[in-house]
Amino acid sequence: MTVYQPREDSRLLAKKILEMNLDGENCLDMGTGTGIIAEKMVKSGAEKVLAVDVNPEAVEEASDKLGKHDNTEVKSSDLFENVEGNFDLIAFNPPYLPGDDLDEDLEGREIWRGGDSGEEFTEEFLETAEDYLAENGRILFVVSSLSDFDTDQYEIVDTKQLWFEDIYLLKAGNF
Ligand SMILES: C[S@@+](CC[C@H](N)C(=O)[O-])C[C@H]1O[C@@H](n2cnc3c(N)ncnc32)[C@H](O)[C@@H]1O
Repeated sequence: MTVYQPREDSRLLAKKILEMNLDGENCLDMGTGTGIIAEKMVKSGAEKVLAVDVNPEAVEEASDKLGKHDNTEVKSSDLFENVEGNFDLIAFNPPYLPGDDLDEDLEGREIWRGGDSGEEFTEEFLETAEDYLAENGRILFVVSSLSDFDTDQYEIVDTKQLWFEDIYLLKAGNF
């Protein structure tokens, strides 16, 4: 499976992570891809970073990128299947685009398709993610205006306007 190479959505999330002070924090980078977000978590002072992805090639690429950091672990996991513990920060730039049955033969659809109307996979992630948050932990995640995701109940942290979509960085958490 192709590894998702960092794009505008990755950069929106990466920029925010770099602005944060993560000193002493335990962080989870869900769907790490190349490892770009986990790398920024380390740069922002995270004490421990767990990076997971369901795509074996992403796990390999992220392991190469992050291997030099002793406080970082890279694992294969389908969402939280192989994740244990509680995290101060969970970040996810998920597959969020809508795709119907016609897309089934498209190579790499797993890295961008979030469900028939785009938001289903993100909602599944959010339902479970709360169980893995530490007290006062927060979740940063990316959604697209091309999906039916209802942004109303979340804080909008940042937005990027592209010619064909708006990308939102949203925050959820125990606070
Ligand atoms: C849009 S890419 C983001 C990659 C990287 N975090 C970035 O921002 O560039 C979504 C990532 O989620 C991964 N992914 C898709 N389904 C997943 C699942 N069920 N569990 C874990 N990771 C998943 C994909 O393999 C892909 O690497």
